[in-house]
Amino acid sequence: MSIRSTTGAANARILGIGAYRPSRIVPNADVVDAIDSSDEWIQQRSGIKQRRWAMPEETVQMMSVAASRRALERAGIAPEQIDAVVVATVSHLLQTPAVATAVAHELGTNQAAAFDISAACAGFCHGVALGADMVRGGSAGHVLVIGVERLSDITDVHDRGTAFIFADGAGAAVIGPSEEPGIGPVVWGSDGEQFDLIRQREDWRDVVGSPGAPGSGVMPHLTMQGNPVFRWASFAMAKVSQQALDRAGVAIEDLDVFVPHQANMRIIDAMARSMKLPERVQVARDIAEQGNTSAASIPLALDRMIEEGTAKSGDTALFVAFGAGLAYAAQVVVVP
Ligand SMILES: CC(C)(COP(=O)(O)OP(=O)(O)OC[C@H]1O[C@@H](n2cnc3c(N)ncnc32)[C@H](O)[C@@H]1OP(=O)(O)O)[C@@H](O)C(=O)NCCC(=O)NCCS
Repeated sequence: MSIRSTTGAANARILGIGAYRPSRIVPNADVVDAIDSSDEWIQQRSGIKQRRWAMPEETVQMMSVAASRRALERAGIAPEQIDAVVVATVSHLLQTPAVATAVAHELGTNQAAAFDISAACAGFCHGVALGADMVRGGSAGHVLVIGVERLSDITDVHDRGTAFIFADGAGAAVIGPSEEPGIGPVVWGSDGEQFDLIRQREDWRDVVGSPGAPGSGVMPHLTMQGNPVFRWASFAMAKVSQQALDRAGVAIEDLDVFVPHQANMRIIDAMARSMKLPERVQVARDIAEQGNTSAASIPLALDRMIEEGTAKSGDTALFVAFGAGLAYAAQVVVVP
């Protein structure tokens, strides 16, 4: 007996991008006192002028649904056509169930497969890789990939190394079949030797405690060793970017748009320099207004470029994302 296997569409592409930016704008002036810093220091070291922190009603689910509705509208795809919802996040504060199931239900999908993935700031690019493979492999006709964070919930406002960096928001992409290849091969990997560089400070058991041993009762915030992360990202990620171009067969001269994870403006500049990115390539710099939104940063940044006209439909774009784990992923895509 042999089991029948399936194949899907010959090619996949992103059909639409959507974003949701929380309503509350937090300028540097509002974070400096708690970390004995200054607007000038923050701008010089990170390029961040302001970030957005979600209001209580702007939950992970609410922001995901809002970004997804916009992506579906732009893609011209109805919720019932979505066969799988993949949510990349580290700030849905229920260990289980996945927020993806609630998002799939609220959107009105027809009981789409729905699950969350944990790949930190690289989560959206992992989701795009999975979505493309699902469409090509035949396990889904259309896949909704969401990157969403409410990092303000897990950021210690007194921590000098992170309080000014992390922020909230959501971005979404609808992935579906395509005549031409629209999503190149993913280059992804991990370096678990550096597991502790960016991490949730305590295990949940340290917070809750065990019988006879009370826990701290304090929310486990994110911690980061900024310097090694900075050095690793600036050099290793330029190489990963080049590998993604090579695997897609795209020369750097033919690239139109570079959308790196919005971690830090100096990392973005260092990567562009080490890749010898031609001047004409448009570079995403959403971090200045939005801060580092982890899994949401790439779709948020691309959404801004589409809105402002610096990324146009049909352009060739390079995504590269990296973060806790350390985990990373990069791919070339065609702008929807
Ligand atoms: C966080 C980051 C901006 C810090 O910049 P840095 O140059 O590495 O800063 P350092 O920690 O080496 O500190 C340099 C100096 O600034 C001071 N400093 C640190 N944080 C400060 C703050 N928030 N405000 C003012 N001064 C600060 C330090 O005390 C130190 O002072 P000293 O030289 O007198 O000892 C930088 O490391 C970074 O961007 N890292 C990568 C972050 C990132 O991308 N994370 C996400 C990955 S997904």
